[in-house]
Amino acid sequence: MEVQGIQLPKEHSDTIDSLEDFEIRDSDVFLVTYLRSGTVWTQQIIILIHEEEGYNAAESLGSNAARSESYNATQSEGSNAAESDTNMKRMPWLEYNLEGKDYNMRPSPRLFTTHLTYNLMPKMLKEKKAKVIYVARNPKDAIVSLFHFSKIWTYMETAKNIGDLMEKYLSGQVVAGSWFDHFRGWYTHRDQLNFLFLTYEEMIKDLRGAVLKMCHFLGKRLQDSAIDRIVEKATFKNMKNNPKANYEFLPEKAILKDNGKFLRKGTVGDWKNTLTVAQSEHFDEVYRQRMKDLPLKFVWDLN
Ligand code: A3P
Repeated sequence: MEVQGIQLPKEHSDTIDSLEDFEIRDSDVFLVTYLRSGTVWTQQIIILIHEEEGYNAAESLGSNAARSESYNATQSEGSNAAESDTNMKRMPWLEYNLEGKDYNMRPSPRLFTTHLTYNLMPKMLKEKKAKVIYVARNPKDAIVSLFHFSKIWTYMETAKNIGDLMEKYLSGQVVAGSWFDHFRGWYTHRDQLNFLFLTYEEMIKDLRGAVLKMCHFLGKRLQDSAIDRIVEKATFKNMKNNPKANYEFLPEKAILKDNGKFLRKGTVGDWKNTLTVAQSEHFDEVYRQRMKDLPLKFVWDLN
């Protein structure tokens, strides 16, 4: 199904219209990504930062039990999101309101995740000081990740082969539309927003540094020990073993569990193991053409 030229799963497109006038608060936090770019990883970090802040605030209450109780109270009031909930409940997708909850009832600060392009976001985003954390990943790694994901994600047609998927990807004929449009839309509006730009690659290179950047942006001052805990809980291995964070809680109608895992490999440069030289060069050429007017040097910058 297409909305404003962008392909979306039917479950998304049904809610898009109602999002146009969605009321945004200054205190809202949006994690924005293109598919397979480190969304659930960053989601885990943002949740942990808020969780640690809750503990911090409750320090003066003394015992761990009191701290936990205080944190849960701030999170669950009116929202059904508590520490025992999955990350998807605690930081839901703006466009997939799977449980049909009223997001207006969530206490501030509301944490949201989205794959939406800039032009499909609620109009009020421009007028508010809501925080936007955009995480980008080398699109060649994102496509390889999407190729594997297409075998398990039922909302997407299983890719025949990587070459076929790449052609569709380059022309935007995949769920969530074109990587280039997604990136351009957000990146070129960054100065009009309260915006933090991060890359998957910098998170891999220096996870602690990325966590500190997010804390700073979110206005959270945490102790070193709290940062250490966040970094530890956000490693690939620990997230993979964490049922609240590893997305194995998704229902069988969404994910075919026998065909692979949501958290697959978690590395940089897997495209080198998958794309042929010709495919990679073709991708680079399209990338250069599509990105030439953006004054960017990314960590993954081609050549
Ligand atoms: P791979 O398929 O390359 O392994 P998204 O959440 O946007 O769908 O992105 C999924 C990608 O992020 C997958 O990439 C997944 O393994 C990776 N990922 C998730 N958690 C991670 C972590 N803690 N560290 C590194 N990569 C992670």
